[in-house]
Amino acid sequence: MTSPRSHPVRVALIGFMGSGKSTIGQLLAGRLQVPLLDTDSLIVQRTGCPTVGDAFVTLGEAAFRRLESTILADVATADEAILSPGGGIVMVPDNRALLTAWRIIFLYAPFSTIFDRLVLAEREARPLLKEKERAVALYDQRLPVYRAWATDEVDTTGRQPDDIADEIAMHL
Ligand code: S3P
Repeated sequence: MTSPRSHPVRVALIGFMGSGKSTIGQLLAGRLQVPLLDTDSLIVQRTGCPTVGDAFVTLGEAAFRRLESTILADVATADEAILSPGGGIVMVPDNRALLTAWRIIFLYAPFSTIFDRLVLAEREARPLLKEKERAVALYDQRLPVYRAWATDEVDTTGRQPDDIADEIAMHL
């Protein structure tokens, strides 16, 4: 029999697009038997757009961020979950206050690693990654913000998602 955990699992995985939030989130949720809440998927459900990239383009960034914040406010009340928000939640400073009850784990990788990880189709599905120069600038702008938000940081460079999920699960 597994012993009950002494504290609820409330873990948010933050990081740049392609840092592994969804993949690692899925693995962690499975290992810990808690729901995975993925804001991109909820945006797709809520808008009826075929993909989150389409929702971003159709709504425009400002409306997209407002919807993302509304959904985040909703999911942040969950008793237990692994939360995988879009990489842009750190663009709205007020979003941080929604996550005070959460462990916030920053999945770090250098930009070059992230860019190489994503196949062309995955980059094309993300409007903000279409132009490499702009994506680098965005990465540089966000890196210190991810770090300022995070309660923990995991270096994902050169590692398999399973190994990273194991490390996070062990430290909860
Ligand atoms: C965005 C990240 C995307 C998605 C949207 C905007 C961003 O999610 O929400 O394209 O601003 O970083 P992922 O981080 O899951 O790719």
